[in-house]
Amino acid sequence: MCGIVGYTGSDTAKDILITGLKRLEYRGYDSAGVALERTDSDGATQLDIVRRVGKVVGLESELANMDDASTCGIGHTRWATHGRPSQANAHPHASCDGRIAVVHNGIIENFAELRDELEQRGHTFRSQTDTEVFAHLIEEAYAQEHDLMAAVREACTHVVGAYGLAAVCADEPGVIAVARKDNPIVIGRGERGSYVASDVIALIDATRDVVVLEDGQFARLTPEGIEYTDAAGKTIQPDITHIDWDIDMAEKGGYPDFMLKEICEQPRVVRDTLVGRLSPYGELDIDELGLTFEELNLIDRVYVIACGTSYHAGLIAKNLIESWARIPCEVEAASEFRYRNPIITPSTLVVAVSQSGETADTLAAIRDARIKGAKVFGITNVVGSPVARESDGVIYTKANKEIAVASTKSFIGQIVSLTLLALLLGQVKGKLTTGQVRMLFHELGDTAAQIQHILDTQGPAIHEAALACKDAPSALFVGRGMGAAISYEGALKLKEVSYLHAEAYAAGEMKHGPIALIDPGFPVIAVTTKSPTYDKTVSNLKECEARGAKIIAIATEGDEDIKQIADYVIYIPLVRDAFSAITASVPLQLLAREVAVMRGCDVDQPRNLAKSVTVE
Ligand code: G6P
Repeated sequence: MCGIVGYTGSDTAKDILITGLKRLEYRGYDSAGVALERTDSDGATQLDIVRRVGKVVGLESELANMDDASTCGIGHTRWATHGRPSQANAHPHASCDGRIAVVHNGIIENFAELRDELEQRGHTFRSQTDTEVFAHLIEEAYAQEHDLMAAVREACTHVVGAYGLAAVCADEPGVIAVARKDNPIVIGRGERGSYVASDVIALIDATRDVVVLEDGQFARLTPEGIEYTDAAGKTIQPDITHIDWDIDMAEKGGYPDFMLKEICEQPRVVRDTLVGRLSPYGELDIDELGLTFEELNLIDRVYVIACGTSYHAGLIAKNLIESWARIPCEVEAASEFRYRNPIITPSTLVVAVSQSGETADTLAAIRDARIKGAKVFGITNVVGSPVARESDGVIYTKANKEIAVASTKSFIGQIVSLTLLALLLGQVKGKLTTGQVRMLFHELGDTAAQIQHILDTQGPAIHEAALACKDAPSALFVGRGMGAAISYEGALKLKEVSYLHAEAYAAGEMKHGPIALIDPGFPVIAVTTKSPTYDKTVSNLKECEARGAKIIAIATEGDEDIKQIADYVIYIPLVRDAFSAITASVPLQLLAREVAVMRGCDVDQPRNLAKSVTVE
């Protein structure tokens, strides 16, 4: 969480920083700030630090009156960890003399000790943040080294924790010093200068050839070029990563918000994630798994570990892996898994699912699982991300850049990827024939057109259902089997974007507690697609109906009977139960968005949330 950006070159720095920060807002948006170099009337360089509580647009108006002369600066958009969102806690943070400024993404675990020590040595702190210790540590080191890069390197030796860091110093105009440990940093060289950011999206206008800095590497950016060094200060030649997606993907393209745009991209995500996955002979092609068929055949236990929406993709995978491959599969929140002592043997496969590929708990769980001897397979949307790099194998979800904080298209990409994995395990274990795999693969591909059909036809029904929910204090999502798994995601989507309390329950569990909540008009959103448990779910809905619930059913096209108990019906095409999570999630995403829009919420940047959660 938190986004950092920096530029040094020949263009106006503040414009580049603001554009970059806006694109990084998905990482946090409670306050924003920049530090810009300025030449004063005596010809000396000073740092102007401007910070504002709230979104980047507020900072942008504050900077509007500033002249365009500065060609070097750093910026930050914050998601508060240490210290509430306030101007004093917003980055950049400065040294006592104001001649060094830093922006930081991460957590400094030993900041309290460092702060005490620095205060004892006479430093004055102006914020409650952990980051500020970096500014003072660099200040002390600079007094000895007289070299910003060396001072940053020295400061890092005192810090325990995670950081993506950029620093500027008024005594070294045009220089930005960068360090990385456990938080992402990408660096690029354009025709008109050097760029650094937390995510390639902030510098893709300037270049598509970027360096993804590795832990323990440093970079010194100047208008003329970039020098990369290791912890000892030795020059290194990092690998260049070429970005093949376009900036159009990071713009709304006529949609009112990114969430809707991304929901509408889902047919493409299904198709792209499947491209090249089935050989002409009907064999699945998932070479990136990094395991031979013999090794796969030995797997006797699967854990899916993930957080948030990605965790819900895991719930769907459990159903598929157990029914097709007959391998026991557990799904766990990474934040729990990492602190337990799960049963892991060399024949355990851990599947880590993460859109961003940088979620702190998921990464920690991967590391732990590998130490314990498991094979780890990553499913992520971000090429070269820590999850991709630290797993034995990886499938990329091909959702392309996802901007809205609430995950939608990545979720669909995750389910498709996990379905491929389940098919492969089923085939390797001899539970599915090649013919069955081929048939299921083609049906999976058909969901692209089925999603499109839902998008094209169900808008009015979803609008009516949203009107029925928007003023409710709370809502309940229910289903069985796949319907239960997808209900959890439906409830999460609704609460994260509309701030309406929502809970999900396996429909059969209703009578053990949640049914007490139901009074006349209470919305119950039920996934009642045709499945082996359809009749049971309908019985549970009758119990809700009898108590006055307002029932919104996600039902299979042609199911006219459901209208007898449901007040609102959203229809989706008939698909095999195994694939119903893919199609049923689409109306639930649209419903959540529609309710949020009706309630006046910012659907792309819901309060208190961030898209990449790089803290525990
Ligand atoms: C945050 C995001 C969610 C996401 C979760 C896990 O909470 O707001 O949309 O599902 O993190 O993130 P990951 O990148 O690991 O999938």
